[in-house]
Amino acid sequence: MMRDEWGDMLITGWNRADWISQPSRTGDRIGKLIGAPAGTVVVGDTLSIKVYQALASALEINPDRKIILSDTGNFPTDLYMTQGLIESLDKGYELKLCAPEAVADFLNEDVAVLLLTEVDYKTGRLHDMKTLTAKAHEKGILTIWDLAHSAGALPVDLSAADVDFAVGCTYKYLNSGPGGPAFIYLAARLVDQARPALSGWLGHNQPFAFDLDYRPGPGIERMRVGTPPIIQLAALEASLDIWDLVDINDVREKSRELSDLFIELVESSCPDLKLASPRDSRQRGSQVSFQFQQGYAVMQALIEQGLIGDFRAPDIMRFGFTPLYIDAEDVQTAASIIEDVMVNRLWDNAEYFVQSPVT
Ligand SMILES: Cc1ncc(COP(=O)(O)O)c(C=O)c1O
Repeated sequence: MMRDEWGDMLITGWNRADWISQPSRTGDRIGKLIGAPAGTVVVGDTLSIKVYQALASALEINPDRKIILSDTGNFPTDLYMTQGLIESLDKGYELKLCAPEAVADFLNEDVAVLLLTEVDYKTGRLHDMKTLTAKAHEKGILTIWDLAHSAGALPVDLSAADVDFAVGCTYKYLNSGPGGPAFIYLAARLVDQARPALSGWLGHNQPFAFDLDYRPGPGIERMRVGTPPIIQLAALEASLDIWDLVDINDVREKSRELSDLFIELVESSCPDLKLASPRDSRQRGSQVSFQFQQGYAVMQALIEQGLIGDFRAPDIMRFGFTPLYIDAEDVQTAASIIEDVMVNRLWDNAEYFVQSPVT
């Protein structure tokens, strides 16, 4: 892409290589992994932006209610974007947070929108998307599901769950690389009612008419904003080529086997590490987290040994399982590195306590 398209075609690539429709093309391909029909997913921007767009549109579709319900397990940017939107709208909206286990109890006629991340970024705990969406709909609540830790990690069926809006990123299990664009899904039954809050030119009905007034584009196209990241989209397409070759149900099964094995091995050799993820693999995404007070230092020691996970404050060590390229032997190697670091206290070294900007 960089050599033949960008290198030779320069800006003619927008037409000759059809870069302009890449956001919808890749959206349709992601749609296959998340149970979304063609024409309901579009790619672009970052996930924070897509959260904002989904929420702004959802609130307008459900205009008489003032509560946005989320949970304390949600990723902070979803909450921050909500807080920012509430302030900008200045219409008395309120963000209410409950415990993840209590969401169903907080669904009532005051709630306009339920905004949840399906898989908890820290613990991997999985919400029951279908049941919660149905319960929300019974009370007239619109749903927005953040699939950052779901897309490519486990089967998702947005159509079957009758979800209203969904958003997600492509740089985790979809492997588009750091800064890869996000995606947004909007149920076809709602699309005509959804006014895009970020009414950029590429979401316009006729971007190249250069009208002075905004008119939303057809269908999900209206959720586009500005120029898409073509090189990053090419990386995403290369990854989606691999996804075309596998069945997400097989990936899920393998992920459950690998993560169960990991838990068994780590718990048997490192009693000081406390499992922070659900023990039942059906109730977690494709990650396993362990708690340990000096988790940051332990993770730095593991990284030094070639086992790369990350740390989420205050004490969570997070390990991701991507069966496309991780197998049982890798899990055994990982567990023995953890055993070595824990049993021999290799983490207890001043340099591992120096916090980097990204943990
Ligand atoms: C659940 C969830 N939502 C949103 C984000 C942030 O999205 P972005 O940085 O692409 O705006 C993340 C990042 O990891 C996330 O895990």
